[in-house]
Amino acid sequence: MSDKMHIKLTVNGEGREFLAEPRELLIYALREHLNITGPHVGCDTSHCGACTVTLNGKSVKSCTMFVGQANGADITTVEGLGTPDALHVLQENFREHHGLQCGFCTPGMITRAAKLLEENPTPTEEDVRFGMAGNICRCTGYQNIVKSILAAADEMNSAEQGQTVEAAE
Ligand code: FES
Ligand code: FES
Repeated sequence: MSDKMHIKLTVNGEGREFLAEPRELLIYALREHLNITGPHVGCDTSHCGACTVTLNGKSVKSCTMFVGQANGADITTVEGLGTPDALHVLQENFREHHGLQCGFCTPGMITRAAKLLEENPTPTEEDVRFGMAGNICRCTGYQNIVKSILAAADEMNSAEQGQTVEAAE
């Protein structure tokens, strides 16, 4: 008898179904069953944040959850934030302000940062450092990551103000 479970997820707005062992880690289910390889495996022990996704509106390290627990969830990965032709404002600012070097931590960083800015659109530097504390980078020393996130927040806020002014005219 198979121990496999019929898993249904919504990933980046698309309904996905597959069979998996319920205690398979969500990160491996995303990468190996669905070929969604933006979330990375950096440690497997919930320390690095490279596997961060947004699950039902919360930042989750996808190596800390079994796929059976995630059944029915709505998940956003870095692939759902921008495309090569239409980068997310965070992706643009990471590029502009050198918020990455090897890039291994970047999908998790950007996915976490997107949630952070949704929760707090006008963060201070301290808010960003605190909010990103679960994501580790071995290359950058963090300074440029923080700069990139603050610049993205400024850009998002300016765009929103522009829209408000336009709507008022
Ligand atoms: S792989 Fe999940 S926290 Fe490092
Ligand atoms: S850019 Fe290399 S780990 Fe962060």
